[in-house]
Amino acid sequence: MYVKIEPDYDALSQRAARVVADLVRRKPNAVLGLATGSTPEGLYAHLIRIARDEKLDFSRVTTFNLDEYEGLPASHPESYRSFMQRNLFDALGLTNDQTNLLSGMSSDPATECANFEAKIRRAGGIDLQILGIGSDGHIAFCEPGSSLAGRTSLVALHPQTIADNARFFDKEDDVPRKAMTMGVGTILEARSCLILAKGSAKADVWAKMIEGPVSSQLPASALQLHPWVIAISDTVAASKLKHGDYYKHMDRELADQPVLPHWVFQPELDPRAAMLASR
Ligand code: GLP
Repeated sequence: MYVKIEPDYDALSQRAARVVADLVRRKPNAVLGLATGSTPEGLYAHLIRIARDEKLDFSRVTTFNLDEYEGLPASHPESYRSFMQRNLFDALGLTNDQTNLLSGMSSDPATECANFEAKIRRAGGIDLQILGIGSDGHIAFCEPGSSLAGRTSLVALHPQTIADNARFFDKEDDVPRKAMTMGVGTILEARSCLILAKGSAKADVWAKMIEGPVSSQLPASALQLHPWVIAISDTVAASKLKHGDYYKHMDRELADQPVLPHWVFQPELDPRAAMLASR
């Protein structure tokens, strides 16, 4: 894992946006995995600015979002479709054909989830998956106890997640109880991952994700099994890391190295290519 510690939220957001922008510049038909939550908002704001200032073309990019609340129509202001339109898609001019989100209103979630996985495969797989982390250690909506090999499916949200996300709704009772989400196994198939954390509320879980044991009790820890994860946080979220000084040293020493693996640009060279092709 490439652990990077930035002084504050704006610096981490800028650095993360630069990773995405450089990918799109080098690979204009990149497939991006996107996340919601408050953490990636800064990344999206900087990406919009970079796209404008540097005339970066997103017209051939395809996106897949990690998850969507069950029972919320796309038009609901707190649906993840609405979040993405507001925070990224509208400003970049991304069309509905380019942007894929699970439908929270599907009457057949199992088929909806299977079709979503098939779409990812048809798009050639995800080049870079952006992630945030829940205070209970979830990624996407893969809650504690999720299979680390899990696929896209309907899940019940943990009470902690419902409480955390109540801030986006009028009251806690309005937070949907279920969601559809990529599985940890789906996420681990992305060619590279970029996970972000900010603030003191994430300090414990960030240290466990990076330095604790791999466990389904903390699904984000499964990222330790992925060959290319960039983990960027601010200093406060990094404050409980045991090896923080080493990560900073590593960041400086490797500053001239590519930020993304060569197999993002040459997928046939992915060390996992044979395994992924057999899926
Ligand atoms: C939701 C999303 C996750 C996100 C998490 C953290 O539960 N499904 O993808 O990582 O919130 O959100 P925040 O960044 O607001 O802390």
